[in-house]
Amino acid sequence: MITRLGKVRVFFAGPRAGTGGEASGGSCGVIVTVTSNKGGVSKTTTSMHLAGYLADCGGGGRTVVVDLDPNASALDWAARAEKGGRPLPFVVVGPGEDYGEAEHVIFDSPGRLYGEELEAMAEVSDLVVVPTLPARLSVDVLAGFVTDLAEVGRADAYKVLLTMVPRWNLRGRQAREELGGVGVPLFRRSIRLRPAFDTAADRGALVRDVRVRGAQDGWDDYMAFGREVVEG
Ligand SMILES: Nc1ncnc2c1ncn2[C@@H]1O[C@H](COP(=O)(O)OP(=O)(O)OP(=O)(O)O)[C@@H](O)[C@H]1O
Ligand SMILES: [Mg+2]
Repeated sequence: MITRLGKVRVFFAGPRAGTGGEASGGSCGVIVTVTSNKGGVSKTTTSMHLAGYLADCGGGGRTVVVDLDPNASALDWAARAEKGGRPLPFVVVGPGEDYGEAEHVIFDSPGRLYGEELEAMAEVSDLVVVPTLPARLSVDVLAGFVTDLAEVGRADAYKVLLTMVPRWNLRGRQAREELGGVGVPLFRRSIRLRPAFDTAADRGALVRDVRVRGAQDGWDDYMAFGREVVEG
């Protein structure tokens, strides 16, 4: 099946997957859009690490990251991996590029999606992941995004992922309480602030493949988050 989203084309190995996960038997295929109303909140880092998790998830099909960002951050990341002789376990393509059949598709968005583009991405995705920094939390801005999603009938499709959560203050816990208090759906796992993510990005690697302090914490967080994505 092929769905056309303006310049973005999505190929599926089968009908749109649910998020039943491995536990339901067979494929754990998911289609996820990673977007946010703010820049620099870990959208690309999250897209790449979720793809790394899903590529090992067990369905056997291909995992594809579609880089919707004109800055081509995900494509550059994959190019660094190739150049270093350690290709990633998934494919990264630009918008509109043919990538054949895929089991898991992740759209890395350049920033907040609006209008038809938001509608198209929300419609095709099982889940919209919204990385959010506790230090730059704005419930009002998030509420605006949720209103946009509601307008395209998918207010139920999003979940906030707290990212770059520092260990030396309570911002992470406060953000969780604040968002939970107004009914914002949150992933149980947050992603901790770890400089290992910069190292991984510089090398075109996943954090699990760099041997620096904090790398294992980073990968543990993304594995736990990935399990939540798959299990719903
Ligand atoms: N958990 C983390 N801990 C520490 N640094 C992180 C973490 N996640 C991401 N970073 C770093 O933060 C910066 C921004 O991350 P990233 O590029 O993934 O954000 P983005 O939302 O995709 O940005 P943009 O809006 O420019 O597309 C990068 O330098 C990245 O290495
Ligand atoms: Mg990005």
